[in-house]
Parts: sequence; C-alpha cells; structure tokens
Amino acid sequence: MESRKVAESVVETVHIVRPNHLNAAGRLFGGILMQWIDEVAALTAKRHTHKNVITVSVDNLRFLKGAYQKDVIVIIGKMTYVGRTSMEVEVDSFVEALDGERTHINHAYFTMVALDEKDRPTPVPGLLLETEEEKAKWERARKRKEARLADRQK
Ligand SMILES: CC(C)(COP(=O)(O)OP(=O)(O)OC[C@H]1O[C@@H](n2cnc3c(N)ncnc32)[C@H](O)[C@@H]1OP(=O)(O)O)[C@@H](O)C(=O)NCCC(=O)NCCS
Repeated sequence: MESRKVAESVVETVHIVRPNHLNAAGRLFGGILMQWIDEVAALTAKRHTHKNVITVSVDNLRFLKGAYQKDVIVIIGKMTYVGRTSMEVEVDSFVEALDGERTHINHAYFTMVALDEKDRPTPVPGLLLETEEEKAKWERARKRKEARLADRQK
C-alpha cells in the first residue's frame, strides 16, 4: 500500500466563538472544543488513509487556557504514527489574535482506526517521516501506543 507524508494529511480548521459555544462561566465550553478537535482528528486520519475512520481513544487531553466570545480558534491535526489498522493524530488548538499571534489553548492525542466496508479494522498506509521532528514524534507516539495497549490488558 502507498505510504503518505505527514504534510499530505495536515488539517487546519478555524472557528469563531459564538454565544451558543459558551459555558455558564462565559468561556468556550470544553465539550464544544472536544467536538471540534475530534472532527479534525477524523479528517486528518481520513486524508491519510482515504478510508472511513473512528476514534478509539483520546489521551493527554489538556485545556491549557480558556477562550472567550469572538475569539478565533485555529485547530491543527497532524499524523504522528501509524500501526497496522490504527494511527495517532496530534491535535493542537490555538486562539489567533488579529496580528496573527497564536496562543496554545489545547493539546490532545487521538487514536483512530480505519474501517473497511463492513466496519472492520483495515490496514492503513505507512507514514513517510521527512524531518527529525517527525521521527522524534513517531518514537514518542510508539511508546504511548505501548502504554495504551498495556493499559488495555489490565
Ligand atoms: C475500534 C474498534 C473497532 C477496535 O476493535 P478491536 O476488536 O479492539 O480491534 P483490534 O483489536 O483489531 O484493534 C484495532 C486497532 O485498534 C487498536 N486499539 C484497540 N483498542 C485500543 C485502545 N483502547 N487504545 C488504543 N488503541 C487501541 C489496536 O491496537 C489495533 O491497532 P493496530 O492494528 O494498529 O495494531 C472497536 O473498539 C470499536 O468499534 N470501538 C468503538 C469506536 C467508536 O464507536 N468510536 C466513537 C465514534 S467515532
């Protein structure tokens, strides 16, 4: 199966925080951001695999800073690792100011699984690592996968 570069599947989405996205404290509701980042992870994995995908786990989900009405939220999804039928997507979210400066507000790792026509896990294309950073991320993701699977055994 053809392998693909990390750059080929990068996804970037942009949202504006509207009144219906706020929680009672007047901040962006975490559940809304979780929906947006889950969509970005799925789009990234779909671009990489050209298949349907599902979310199997999310870890290291961190809300680093709040966001508020009218903020512009930029969400970026990048492939870090592929297994046989699963893959890891790193998703980072930022508030983008008018001058373009980005403040990191959320970080998460999604494990996605590709599915065939019968909704069974199916093999995914390899990931071509072009930079030292991509290689380092792959190695860290491989260790996270080992930890997840060890956790699953318990
Ligand atoms: C994802 C799902 C099909 C996996 O089924 P399964 O019987 O565990 O299948 P497998 O054991 O073959 O696992 C498939 C892959 O997922 C990985 N995986 C399974 N459970 C995992 C977990 N908890 N964390 C991380 N990876 C996991 C396996 O390591 C395997 O990866 P690999 O092929 O790259 O080695 C099944 O758990 C499922 O349908 N879950 C519900 C998903 C869903 O509805 N998501 C919400 C809506 S999108």
